[in-house]
Amino acid sequence: MSEAATSFRVTVIGGDGIGPEVTAVGMDVLRTLAELRGWALALDVLDLGAERYLRDGTTFPDEVAARIAEESDAVLLGALGDPRVPGNQHARDILFGLRFGMDLYCNVRPVQCLADRLMPLKAYAAADVDFTVFRENTEGIYVGMGGHFKKGTPDEIAIQEDVNSRKGVERVIRAAFAHATRTGAGSVHMADKHNAMVHAHELWLRVFREVAAEYPELEAHHVYVDALCLYLVQDPRPFEVIVTCNLFGDIVTDLAAALQGGMGMAASANVRPPGDERGRLRGLFEPVHGSAPPLAGQDVANPFATVLTVGQLLAHLGHPHEDARLRALVQRGLAEGKCTRDVGGELGTKAVGAWVCDQLRSG
Ligand code: IPM
Ligand code: MN
Repeated sequence: MSEAATSFRVTVIGGDGIGPEVTAVGMDVLRTLAELRGWALALDVLDLGAERYLRDGTTFPDEVAARIAEESDAVLLGALGDPRVPGNQHARDILFGLRFGMDLYCNVRPVQCLADRLMPLKAYAAADVDFTVFRENTEGIYVGMGGHFKKGTPDEIAIQEDVNSRKGVERVIRAAFAHATRTGAGSVHMADKHNAMVHAHELWLRVFREVAAEYPELEAHHVYVDALCLYLVQDPRPFEVIVTCNLFGDIVTDLAAALQGGMGMAASANVRPPGDERGRLRGLFEPVHGSAPPLAGQDVANPFATVLTVGQLLAHLGHPHEDARLRALVQRGLAEGKCTRDVGGELGTKAVGAWVCDQLRSG
């Protein structure tokens, strides 16, 4: 694939709940841009998720994974999780099948507040929230190592290991520093809990210091993750790039979503960093929000997280200006009330999507 792809194939997994509604908007945005820019776009919509699992037991077959790896440039995912599937095995198989299976080790979650009225901290303005979280995406507690002993008895024991490899820790920390350098940020914060997780997170601290030494021009700050939660709410301004482990990244980015105006505004890219491209697939792109089953089918879900996510997708396919354009449009949509109720508007999901596409068409 050339630097800026003009011919690409995107695999779309709408998934559960509001997932299909927001990915429908994402696909419209992609189709509109393809038409305007003359790109050859193929959208490959897969029937995967709770519905499919309940129908025939399929979650994420190896052949599907192999086809995605070989033939797709990117995956756009809506959301997974359905109360009819207790335990949500299908969600884990699909999501982790992509994150772990494709070795997409950076979960890049940009955090920007795009309208002052969405800013929950009264002392600050929207522009004061502008950082990116690099969440390790292939290790940690998420690998699922462990098990139960004497399950269901009063003596039951449940163990889940926190897996941290030197390689895994180093590569995401390196990606965060490289991102800071590329984007002109002045600092990187690494959040861990080495005062309690003395083995696993001592590794994080040691590797962070080693890598930081290679970037003398960047400020490198260690912060305990509990303190980070406090600081983000007290004063979000010092934060530019935050790197942390899988579980902490999950938790911190929900807190960060609140600084952006809620889950409907939070985007994410599961990728390998520039310079570590392997094969065709550039990444898995998904809004941070869940499937929100009670909201499904009501045309109320905020599609902006998906629009911003599509921006990240395009940036990773070599079109950073389209990413900036989509972000600017979301910002204007918020300013003009062309948005859903959760962010102060009155429009439905489809109408917001149509507005975004109209704006793209009108230049
Ligand atoms: C996320 C989600 C997932 C995660 C869930 C659905 C397993 O919360 O992408 O943030 O914890 O990674
Ligand atoms: Mn989460």
